[in-house]
Amino acid sequence: MRKILLGVNIDHIATIRQARGTNYPNPVEAAVLAEAAGADGITVHLREDRRHIQDYDIYALQKAIKTRLNLEMAVTDKMIDFALKTKPAHCCFVPEKRAELTTEGGLDVLTNEVKVRLACEKLQNAGMEVSLFIDAHEAQIEAAVRCKAKAIEIHTGQYAEVADPTLQHIELVKIIHAVKFAHDRGLIVNAGHGLHYENVQAIAKISFINELNIGHAIIAKAMMIGMREAVKEMRNLMDAGNDKCQKL
Ligand code: PXP
Repeated sequence: MRKILLGVNIDHIATIRQARGTNYPNPVEAAVLAEAAGADGITVHLREDRRHIQDYDIYALQKAIKTRLNLEMAVTDKMIDFALKTKPAHCCFVPEKRAELTTEGGLDVLTNEVKVRLACEKLQNAGMEVSLFIDAHEAQIEAAVRCKAKAIEIHTGQYAEVADPTLQHIELVKIIHAVKFAHDRGLIVNAGHGLHYENVQAIAKISFINELNIGHAIIAKAMMIGMREAVKEMRNLMDAGNDKCQKL
């Protein structure tokens, strides 16, 4: 039986750390816990504005993780140089706009074909597997094939965002069609963005999906599941301190 791989995106562990400029929570610790729980890979997006993951996280993750690092990055010379220097097992090219809250839409491979093809060539010649994060459109898939990318990641954001069930079904059908179209053309097909505990199963049912990359929903769930223990531990520490209280 096939097993869909789970890439756990830990960006938002770093988001919480960067919000206070502390050295916790540590993305490396989160990655190790995710692996122990069954993650098949760890995904991080090193954004140009470094709003969450930092360069030093990549070095630390590479030393600590036992599975596979998937580095999401913009198609820029600086990021390509960084990938060539650090050599993660897998790189995923994504579009990047400074003001966006998160990645909006897939990479437009079609209109940036030469640039994307050269970027794929550089990283794949250096031994990395490259995927392109694209919308579920045949023309983008065909452009990815021409760029000789090994893999694509289909953007599931629109499917995840629409509230209306009929519109969501239309998005799902587009994804199902795109997965088959890409698989038939020899691409490894991954998917991700916006997937959560209620919408993941319809995507996991699709044949030929190799891997799902999921971040925000897992980090959000981890906070809720961990809340009870975190408060208990603080309560116990305060009570233990209070027991040792000296009268001034
Ligand atoms: N895949 C890609 C290419 C992404 O850019 C992201 C977000 O960084 C994800 C998957 C994970 O998305 P989410 O955090 O919504 O699960």
